[in-house]
Amino acid sequence: MGSTLAQYLDKGQVITFTGNLGSGKTTLIKGICQGLGIEEPVTSPTFTLVNEYQGRLPVYHFDFYRIEDSSELLDLGLEEYFYGQGVCLIEWPEQVQVWLPDDHWKIRLESRFIAGWENKRKLTLDIPHEIFEKIIA
Ligand SMILES: Nc1ncnc2c1ncn2[C@@H]1O[C@H](COP(=O)(O)OP(=O)(O)OP(=O)(O)O)[C@@H](O)[C@H]1O
Ligand SMILES: [Mg+2]
Repeated sequence: MGSTLAQYLDKGQVITFTGNLGSGKTTLIKGICQGLGIEEPVTSPTFTLVNEYQGRLPVYHFDFYRIEDSSELLDLGLEEYFYGQGVCLIEWPEQVQVWLPDDHWKIRLESRFIAGWENKRKLTLDIPHEIFEKIIA
């Protein structure tokens, strides 16, 4: 699904990924990066806050899980990324919510640590209807 979604991304698109630990946020982002033609391995930027890749478009992959103090965010210069020329893919966006563009897309993932859910994920896509129709076609 990630690589299909990637076909419809334009510069400046911001997507947030929410969901419990291990729900598959990074895995989905890897698929999007693959679809954007990024060949290098995509790893979670938990300690660096942002990883940058160059594919069909520049990609900025954020992970704000570890952020405790929002002054770290001010140092990053988030607006340059969020209103820039690349695609921003953001895990754990709660603390940057106020800075996000109004038209950002939201993907929620859910996994459960119970029998029967080992290989199952629930996804909720808050994306434009015309994009939704294309990716499920
Ligand atoms: N759609 C899926 N179906 C089955 N397993 C999946 C799926 N997506 C991810 N997984 C598995 O779940 C585990 C956690 O995935 P991942 O690291 O992508 O989660 P995450 O939401 O990014 O976690 P974190 O909150 O730690 O950042 C991995 O072992 C991955 O292979
Ligand atoms: Mg992750």
